[in-house]
Amino acid sequence: MAIRRPNGFFSWVAALSALFAGGMWSFGAAAQDAVSYGEDVFPILELRCLECHVPGAEGYEKSGLDLRTYESLMKGTKHGPVVTPGRAFESNLIAVIDQRTDPELWMPHNRKRMSKCERLLLRFWVNQGAKDN
Ligand code: HEC
Repeated sequence: MAIRRPNGFFSWVAALSALFAGGMWSFGAAAQDAVSYGEDVFPILELRCLECHVPGAEGYEKSGLDLRTYESLMKGTKHGPVVTPGRAFESNLIAVIDQRTDPELWMPHNRKRMSKCERLLLRFWVNQGAKDN
């Protein structure tokens, strides 16, 4: 008994710390998987969309969608929002880049289609709540 007790105690400690480390690891992975507006989403919009979606350019003048800031993106077009937080499938922002609309609304308009990687990042961001993060 005198010998077994410490062994039992130490394996219990080992199991608990393994559990804790595992928990920390999955928490870290979840934090890393979060898509950031500032780091991930805006650079893509800047590269692929901004030339037309600023005041004075054709995308903004026709639709009213200004993609310069988080606030202007969330405001949407003159007809209303293009992002429904948590629901990428219902968001026009995602529909136009995934080519689920009339072809004249496919974005970027008359430009090379976005890569799957770019499109997935935007989709994940919307599904994660479209936060200003
Ligand atoms: C070469 C110019 C151009 C580029 C680049 C461009 N757009 Fe557009 N965008 C337009 C025009 C023009 C319209 C208006 C289309 C219409 O109403 O016929 C528009 C409209 C839209 C709309 C509104 C669609 C609706 O529901 O009426 C969304 C959303 C949109 N663009 C998103 C984007 C995104 C996201 C990108 C970058 C991936 C992008 N656009 C890049 C020109 C552009």
